[in-house]
Amino acid sequence: MSLIGAGTAPDAAPGTASPALGTAHRAPGTAHSGPGTARRAPSGGDTLAVEAAGLVKSFGSTQAVTGVDLAVARGSIYGLLGPNGAGKTTTVRILATLLAPDGGRARVLGHDVVTDAAAVRRRVALAGQFATVDDDLTGWENLVLLGRLAGLARRAAKARAAGLLTAFGLEKSAARQVNTFSGGMRRRLDLATSIVVRADLFFLDEPTTGLDPASRAHGQVIAEGTTGELKASVGSGTLRIRLADPAHRPDAGRMLTRSLDVTVHTEADPAVLTARIPARPSARSASEHVASAITELARADIAVGEFALGQPSLDEVFLTLTGYRTPGSQEAPS
Ligand SMILES: Nc1ncnc2c1ncn2[C@@H]1O[C@H](COP(=O)(O)OP(=O)(O)OP(=O)(O)O)[C@@H](O)[C@H]1O
Ligand SMILES: [Mg+2]
Repeated sequence: MSLIGAGTAPDAAPGTASPALGTAHRAPGTAHSGPGTARRAPSGGDTLAVEAAGLVKSFGSTQAVTGVDLAVARGSIYGLLGPNGAGKTTTVRILATLLAPDGGRARVLGHDVVTDAAAVRRRVALAGQFATVDDDLTGWENLVLLGRLAGLARRAAKARAAGLLTAFGLEKSAARQVNTFSGGMRRRLDLATSIVVRADLFFLDEPTTGLDPASRAHGQVIAEGTTGELKASVGSGTLRIRLADPAHRPDAGRMLTRSLDVTVHTEADPAVLTARIPARPSARSASEHVASAITELARADIAVGEFALGQPSLDEVFLTLTGYRTPGSQEAPS
């Protein structure tokens, strides 16, 4: 199965201490702003947060990871996207030294994950896909215990626990045993435990929504870049047209297919047509092309209620690159 790597530019110079808690907080603001990419990171091993080449891991006959290469700059936020079972968690577990790879090599903050695993562990933190908090302890006890295990003095561990419970909105439930927590509360506590001590690199393996029963093995990076680059790579945008009269949809679909030379899709809404508009290197920009196609509809007395040509969403990028189609969407007959 295929993996997609999405990176943002580091907004701190390589080598600058990069507090990952700060990185996590910066994420919403920087996700769309940086022109740099993880791929353009300096190539020296000690300047990269993660450097992997040809990582391979199988479980029996299941090939979970098949040749993953990564180069992630320090101070950047990097997302590994892929369908259920694509090998994301396995890759993260290898990088966090919880699993040994069958082949390939990886360095985290310059340390080899196999031969120098202890050094990696001293510098990274992991919030695993499934919460690993202790059900029999209270929220407070979980945090103090982990702080103490990580080497904080008693007083410092308590202060850190109190601060985190407040930061994650759990102060009212701090004295309750975790087995009475809701799923979301448990998740928040789990994230809090992963940042009890400061780390130079944080691995966050978010729980995915829903299950994907069609997923099968084969982890491989098929695309990489900033969010802007990934969006541009699947085309210049998505055209969405809502017709004034749904009865015109078949005719409009045929005309658009012909004039834009793209596959036009129908949505569940009977008046809507959508199409992915490929990037056009020629002089005529995508928007001019779309404008003339819409004029053609008007000439044929097909009234357009509204239309929009927008950048594809990251969800659409994912669906395009992994070959998935949006449920409810169908190809319009041409
Ligand atoms: N410990 C294990 N023993 C056997 N098979 C495993 C083990 N861990 C992972 N696998 C298999 O390896 C493949 C990749 O699993 P992985 O958990 O890395 O996927 P993922 O990309 O994180 O998926 P999800 O989006 O569902 O979290 C799957 O086929 C999974 O069943
Ligand atoms: Mg996973």
